[in-house]
Amino acid sequence: MKLDHSLVTRRIFLNTLFGGWIAAVASGVLWALLKFAFPTLGKEPDFVILRKTDFEGIPPNSVKPFAWGGKLGLYFKKENGTVQALKGVCTHMECNVTYKPDEKKFYCACHKGWFDENGRNIGGPPPKPLEVFDITVEGDKLIIAKKGVKVELPKA
Ligand code: FES
Repeated sequence: MKLDHSLVTRRIFLNTLFGGWIAAVASGVLWALLKFAFPTLGKEPDFVILRKTDFEGIPPNSVKPFAWGGKLGLYFKKENGTVQALKGVCTHMECNVTYKPDEKKFYCACHKGWFDENGRNIGGPPPKPLEVFDITVEGDKLIIAKKGVKVELPKA
């Protein structure tokens, strides 16, 4: 069936085009204002300070999550009692990983990515290991920091 007239007039087309352009510019300005008002928005921290007592009692072969900025951090106690802190974010497309205690591996359900208990990528699409953090204990504080970042707490 051929229509005699177009359903979209020139005015509607130009108004839509102009409205889209205005919306794109407005969202760019809004994003710039948000970044100015909250400079750490979307950035990861160099370190986090946690309460040691919150992590002392976790059983072997288990993980306890903590907030790594807006991302997932995992405090992991291996079967032999050694501890490790990792970023619980897959290196493929940034889905959160979960720990599978039966297999002693970390699993990313998004595209079936696997990491061993040291965070090394061993299966599926992840191109790199999970990020492993340094752990320092100072008094009742547990300091988890990016590798190579020195954290000095103020002396009381
Ligand atoms: S995001 Fe984890 S395997 Fe793709």
